[in-house]
Amino acid sequence: MYPDRVVSGMRPTGAMHLGHYHGALKNWVRLQSEHPCLFFVADWHALTTHYDDPSIIETSTWDMVIDWLAAGIDPSQATIFIQSKVPEHAELHLLLSMSTPLGWLERVPTYKDQQEKLADRDLATYGFLGYPLLQSADVLIYRASMVPVGEDQVPHIEMMREIARRFNHLYGREKDFDEKAREAVKKLGTKRAKLYNELRTEYQEQGNDDALEQAKAMLDDAQNLSMIDRERLFGYLEGSRKLILVEPQALLTEASRLPGLDGQKMSKSYGNTIALRDDRDTVTKKIRTMPTDPARVRRTDPGDPEKCPVWQFHMVYSDQVTRDWVVKGCKSAGIGCLECKQPVIDGILKEQEPMRERAQQYLDDPSLVRAIVADGCDQARKHAQETMRDVREEMGLSYN
Ligand code: TRP
Ligand code: SF4
Repeated sequence: MYPDRVVSGMRPTGAMHLGHYHGALKNWVRLQSEHPCLFFVADWHALTTHYDDPSIIETSTWDMVIDWLAAGIDPSQATIFIQSKVPEHAELHLLLSMSTPLGWLERVPTYKDQQEKLADRDLATYGFLGYPLLQSADVLIYRASMVPVGEDQVPHIEMMREIARRFNHLYGREKDFDEKAREAVKKLGTKRAKLYNELRTEYQEQGNDDALEQAKAMLDDAQNLSMIDRERLFGYLEGSRKLILVEPQALLTEASRLPGLDGQKMSKSYGNTIALRDDRDTVTKKIRTMPTDPARVRRTDPGDPEKCPVWQFHMVYSDQVTRDWVVKGCKSAGIGCLECKQPVIDGILKEQEPMRERAQQYLDDPSLVRAIVADGCDQARKHAQETMRDVREEMGLSYN
């Protein structure tokens, strides 16, 4: 019904590290050339847990956007924006909240998990309970079909799907839907109308998914249809209701294979990160001082790569020849750890080189970043307003 839109957001956590890059950003960079993508800073989401300390949000937001650009998110391909600059998200959140059962929110696993994990914060708040609903609004407002997220977010996507389904069920029932749909079919023109009816029957009577897909593709091509007729025809294919909101799918991103310097998950709170834009000396020093297999106390002690976090870095940065050299040299004490680390240092510096270059222009001229985001916000708002017009109309709020 809508182009294969991809939507994803990140809470503003400040400068990104290589774990973010390998865990999420690299995937976004790939997606932007395959689909229309909207990537946004989830600043309201940051407030759900840090409502008492909003001072860091603004700087974190700009640092994060610069890192996205540095990582290769290309504003000429993807739309980059800030959630709070598209207040339609909040309106949809509110409207969805009217019909969202409390139990759905209380049952989301992250609700209890996060409350336990962040026990030092008071998260018995309305905003925190509503976190996944706000997230649903973020995605549903763009009628996105795909949401690249990590494993922990899958229950949130599941909930979005239920929210969309419920919404369509509650509000997608137009009084004389069938009649209006048949009128819309006529507008397709004789040939297409005939094909549409045939494909619809084939799908509804025989469950032929190909027929459904073919009919959808035809509607995508039918330029002369109004938005609302197009929706009717999509809804009419599958049943007798209008699809106002689209059920999105999670696009699971593989967990980052890059651990932190100490072998644990790379995370700012563990102090084991390499920032995307750490300078060369810092990177070199961090790798040179990172722990290795504790069994290698002296240069002459053999080691085991499996017990060494440096090895995990080789798995990301080194080719097979180098890896073979590491395994052999480590187990036989043929190479020293500093020697072993050098290809990793080289690999990281090479990866960061274009990032540092891209970042520099934005650091030199921050107005470039502001302009990119302002432009992205305008684009996002346009899409969001389109959906909200339909949503308001269905909910009896259009007062025309
Ligand atoms: N909850 C996501 C996270 O913590 C961030 C987020 C907010 C998001 N809104 C979103 C992700 C919409 C995808 C789509 O990582
Ligand atoms: Fe780790 Fe390499 Fe040292 Fe072996 S040689 S312990 S893999 S750093």
